Parts: sequence; C-alpha cells; structure tokens
Amino acid sequence: MVQGWRWHLACVAAVIAPIAGLTAVPATLSHASGDRALGQYLSSECVTCHQLSGRFDGIPPIVGWPEDSFVEIMNEYKSKKRSHAVMQTIVGRLSPEEIAALAAYFGSVAPATAPAKHEGGKS
Ligand code: HEC
Repeated sequence: MVQGWRWHLACVAAVIAPIAGLTAVPATLSHASGDRALGQYLSSECVTCHQLSGRFDGIPPIVGWPEDSFVEIMNEYKSKKRSHAVMQTIVGRLSPEEIAALAAYFGSVAPATAPAKHEGGKS
C-alpha cells in the first residue's frame, strides 16, 4: 500500500473514511527511517538535474548512498557549510522529514552498474 501523501490524500481519504481504524498505519510504517513514498514524490525535482541511473553527468549522482550520509550532506547545504547556491535554495525549502524521506528513497535506488565506465577497451 503506497503512502503517497499529497498525491493520494484525496482518494485515500475517500477509501479510508469507512474504515477509519486504519489511518494510523502510515505512521507505524515510516517510523524507522524516512518515508520512501514521500521521497519518491519529492525526488521528481531532484532528478531533473541528478541522474537516477547514478551516472555522473556534470552533476554528482546521489543514488545508493547510506541514509545518514545523505542527510548529513543535505544539512551541510542547509546550514551553508557547503556552498552551492542552487542546492542551498532547494534544501532550504525542505523539512527534516522531507530530507529523511529523500534519503530513504535515493538510498534505495541502486546505481546502475554502469557499463559506461568500463567501456574503455578499444574494440
Ligand atoms: C538545478 C539542478 C539541481 C537540482 C534540481 C538538484 N540538485 Fe543536488 N546538486 C546539484 C549540483 C550542481 C550539485 C553539486 C554541487 C556542489 O558542487 O556542491 C548538487 C549536489 C547535491 C548533493 C551532494 C552530492 C555530492 O556528491 O556531494 C546532494 C546530496 C544533492 N545534490 C541532492 C539533491 C536533492 C535531494 C535534490 C532534490 C530535492 C537536488 N539535489 C536537486 C544540482 C541540482
């Protein structure tokens, strides 16, 4: 069951209303770490720049990282310890919960074991 927060709120509410007892479920599921479904939703902005395939394309790849490191780096942009105007602006708009969600989502995406990197052999 996808907890697609904002997207599905309306339809979910309609479905859940008759069985209101289930509304507590998402909180339990997302307790351990970030809410991956929310992260996937929020990631649509990020992947206009960052390659979901994990390829370096002038912009560093951000998939497959441990969640802790991801959150740490995002917070470094937020606190302006890392200087990059675009990332600072983007992260500045995110709540800690949203950052955790993005960490959970991007961390779950396996970088494609890029054949591009090993194509070097002259054939
Ligand atoms: C407009 C393009 C753009 C968008 C949109 C964008 N980024 Fe970035 N991001 C960059 C660039 C460029 C860098 C490298 C900045 C630097 O050199 O510090 C970067 C760096 C990062 C890094 C650090 C990567 C590293 O290897 O140090 C993370 C993590 C990151 N972005 C996450 C995100 C997330 C999460 C989102 C969406 C909420 C996002 N970015 C949206 C352009 C973008």
